[in-house]
Parts: sequence; structure tokens; C-alpha cells
Amino acid sequence: MKLPQSLVEAFRQRYGEAPALVVRAPGRVNLIGEHTDYNDGFVLPMAIERAAYIALRPRQDSYIVIQALDFEGEVVEFALDDIRKRELEWAEYVQGMAWALQEAGFTLRGWEGVVAGDVPIGAGLSSSAALEMATARAFAALGDIPWDAPVMAKLGQRTENVWIGVKTGIMDQMISAAAVEGSALLIDCRHLTLTPAPLPSGTAVVILDTATRRELAESKYNERRAQCEAAAHFFGVETLRDVSLSEFFTRAEHLDELPRKRARHVLTENARTLQAAAAMRAGDAHELGRLMDASHISMRDDFEITRWEIDKMVELAQAHPACFGARMTGGGFGGCCVALVRADGAEAFAESVAREYTAATSLTPALYISQPSAGANVLQST
Ligand code: GLA
Repeated sequence: MKLPQSLVEAFRQRYGEAPALVVRAPGRVNLIGEHTDYNDGFVLPMAIERAAYIALRPRQDSYIVIQALDFEGEVVEFALDDIRKRELEWAEYVQGMAWALQEAGFTLRGWEGVVAGDVPIGAGLSSSAALEMATARAFAALGDIPWDAPVMAKLGQRTENVWIGVKTGIMDQMISAAAVEGSALLIDCRHLTLTPAPLPSGTAVVILDTATRRELAESKYNERRAQCEAAAHFFGVETLRDVSLSEFFTRAEHLDELPRKRARHVLTENARTLQAAAAMRAGDAHELGRLMDASHISMRDDFEITRWEIDKMVELAQAHPACFGARMTGGGFGGCCVALVRADGAEAFAESVAREYTAATSLTPALYISQPSAGANVLQST
């Protein structure tokens, strides 16, 4: 049985009745605009079909009881007025979200239920943002809290930054909270404004999971962030959003090599992301693909967040005749790549790239053909 039916069934077995509510929040794949979000820049992600789901019913008290089907059925129970760190990593996203919502002044109701998801963990497809936004969706639906995507996304980011302790940007939570079916979204991460960008007709997005996982990713992520901040300070501004490309090229020679390369990636990536959104509006798959290819080179050479298996996957994808462009996606150091391909050639593309990748690396990749899906929503309520 597939999700979410299997989850509803698990709820029935545990509680002897159907859930009052089933909520869902998707993972995401970023088409272009990497490590730009915390520089107040632009990103262009789309939500994917893979998601986190929670089936639940309200409680009369203020306890949360939640069982995770993907973690051997582990159960976590906590009182909303006594949220403390526990040993279970997955539960921290639920607890952290409850903490952030209450800290922001929302009154929450207790509930009990089961959670499961099919976003691969640690692959760069935002399984944690999906769990945060599914939790937020559950609290919102039960407490009659209006679903304001930027507000919820910011609280999800606060969960990551303060409760979990990773200094991530706003992209993952924002797309999970706000996505619209059928479109990627251009997000201006400074103003949190959203512009739909449909895939060019006749194209499909293929996610290529390299079967490598992020190593030391958190410390390297935070290090990249600090290097971007150092570069911004050199230019006398808070964030790289406020440095123009011409200003950069005029003064860059006086900047140390590392922050110079990091800033060059961020500034050129912002420009590419805006161009990519324009290409999508014009239905120009070739231009979008070209920008994705250029983004990969910039991540590889200037931001230095790829690894050889990722570069190999991108190279194999780009060499296939159905492919318009390909790049690594997400935070980096492991995980997934993304390719824009001709829709009618997508299956053949996936088969052949997977075979060639295994031959080159001895790893078994997972390839998913994906369409832009909806953001966090309520699937069932009684
Ligand atoms: C991770 C973070 C995002 C973003 C990307 C890189 O996914 O959670 O905020 O910074 O890396 O673009």
C-alpha cells in the first residue's frame, strides 16, 4: 500500500478509527539558485510529489503523541508547555516547530497521530523542511490558524536555526509551504515574494540521487555562509544581495581568493536565477538548460560544494541527447542532481544515465521523474 493510504491504515490500527485529519507537506528540488537564499537572493525551486504526511486526531489535553513509521514505529510524547530536547532526531523537527509556533504567540491544541514520508533523508530534497511544514500544517488546521506561507516558513527556518542549530536559509520551508501545482516558484528571499514559473512545455524534471550522502555538511554549510558574510562586509553591506556584478568586478581583485570565489558564485547565480525564470516564462528549455549547466560549473569551481560522483552524474546527464541541462541541487557535498529533459525521452534518459553512473562509480542511483506539486495542504478532514 502506498502513502498516504498506508499511513491512514496504520492510524486505524493504532487508534481503531479513521484519522480526523491527514496533512501533507512536500520535499523540493531546486532548479537553480543555490546558496543564494541566506544572501537575500533568488531561488527557483519546485515542490516534488514526495512528501511528509501526518494522520492525526485532536486530544482534549495539551499533549502531542506521535509515532514515526519510518523509524521503527518509535513514539514520542510531549506536553506543549514542557518542550525539551530528546534523543530522537526526527522528533526534534516536530518539537521545534511546536516551540517556534508557541514562541510566535500561536495557541496550539494537543493531538495524536502517525507520521511517515517518502522524501529520502539526507539526499538534499528537504525531508526535514517537509516534516516541519507538515507539523505546522497540522497545528494550523487544528487550531484554526490561517495558513500564511511566509509566516510558517520563517518559523520552520527558526526551528532549523535555533532549535536544531543549522544556519539554513528560507528556501526549503518556503517552497514546501507555498508551492503551487504545475509551477516552480521564483522566490525573492529578501522580500519573500513569489512568482510562478511553469516548466517549458514538453519538458520533465529528473532528480538523480547519486547515492552519496552529505559528509560534514553542516560545518561546511556554515563555513560557506561565513565566507559570504565576510565578502559582504568587504563591500560594506550586510548581504551579497546589495553588491552588483559591476561593483564586484571593479573591486574583487582586492578581496581574498576564497571570499572572492564564493561571492562570484552567489552574484552570478542570482543573475542566472533571474534569467532562468525569464526563460521559463518564455518557454525556452534550451536557455534554462544552459543556465543550469553554468550553475553547476559555478558550484563546482567557485563555491566548491560538489564531489566527483556528483560531477560525474552531471556530466553523464548533460551528454544524453534528451537533456537540456543538469546541475547539482541542494546544499551540496552529496545527494542529488537535477536535469531538465525532453518529457518523451525522460524514461530512456533515466535508464541510461543510471546504468552509466553505476558503471562509473559502482553506486546504485535512484532517479525520479518529477512534476511540480502543490505545497503543504490538508488531504482529509472530518
Ligand atoms: C539547504 C538549505 C537552504 C539552501 C540550500 C542551498 O537546502 O536548507 O536554505 O541554502 O541548502 O541552496
